[in-house]
Amino acid sequence: MLSSLYFLFMNNIMRIEDLKKNYGNVQAVDGISFSIEEGICFGLLGPNGAGKTTTIEMMEGILPPSSGQVYFKEKKIDHHFKQKVGIQFQNTALPEFITVKETLELFRALYPDPRSLDEVIEICSLSDIIDRDNRKLSGGQKQRMLLGLAIIPHPEIIFLDEPTTGLDPQARRNFWELIKRIKAEKTTVLLTTHYMEEAEILCDQIAIIDHGKLLEIDTPEKLLENHFDGALVKIPHADRDDLKLEGGIIKGDYIEISTRNLDRTMKELLQTQLNLEGLSIKKPNLEDLFLKLTGTTLRA
Ligand SMILES: Nc1ncnc2c1ncn2[C@@H]1O[C@H](COP(=O)(O)OP(=O)(O)O)[C@@H](O)[C@H]1O
Ligand SMILES: [Mg+2]
Repeated sequence: MLSSLYFLFMNNIMRIEDLKKNYGNVQAVDGISFSIEEGICFGLLGPNGAGKTTTIEMMEGILPPSSGQVYFKEKKIDHHFKQKVGIQFQNTALPEFITVKETLELFRALYPDPRSLDEVIEICSLSDIIDRDNRKLSGGQKQRMLLGLAIIPHPEIIFLDEPTTGLDPQARRNFWELIKRIKAEKTTVLLTTHYMEEAEILCDQIAIIDHGKLLEIDTPEKLLENHFDGALVKIPHADRDDLKLEGGIIKGDYIEISTRNLDRTMKELLQTQLNLEGLSIKKPNLEDLFLKLTGTTLRA
């Protein structure tokens, strides 16, 4: 009762209902439902081919679903919807032979009330490349510029489809800062990624999808809390199958122990006479969760 009341009063900016898309025999999206609260960064996480782009493009109103519904503020999306959103496509060809500034101006001319050039430059840190030819941009610079284009119409929600794929670690971190700035402006962000670290850092809510289906949805903290005990202890070169350790699983040539009581586990381990050389203790992350849910790694 309480939870259904909460649902009623929650400020959902978008909601999808049993969304499906098939390409011939390929069921790219297979009945996904979720809602996105206003102002958050929502992450759609899944490996290549999971159905992220197909889902996001149906939510953008670009791709017609085979069935199911997409709602923006509880109204079915229509052709006005595209004026209210910012879209950064997974692959975008930029106009050639013009500069970043000229490109921004070109896009600004398409909207009735565009964000000022200075503001876009400021938010997306574009001043150092503003006069550069589009063809001379590095991967990270191109993504910054594409984000600039996406925020021009003062969007209420912005869709970013794998904006950091292929960027080097430094460029990815720089991009995360921009996403945080956009979030601070109260713009809702829908981000797809196959980097779990990125999702963990940026996202308030995460939907994990695979084979077109929603596997889990929650905050990063809750997802980990629900699936793992406190810590993961890993002991390499310990393939003794006579060992009985609470929470221990033998995985090839190492043992992994999931434990809420590290103290007890360590004492137990010391009694086994195992060679503990190379033992590691870590907090499980979303990559571990994905492995647990699907048996494969996110970047496989
Ligand atoms: N236009 C298309 N025609 C046929 N199959 C497609 C098309 N677009 C995507 N698919 C297939 O749908 C599935 C989901 O793809 P996609 O949504 O692009 O996944 P992701 O973005 O998570 O990598 C994949 O199996 C992909 O090959
Ligand atoms: Mg994709």
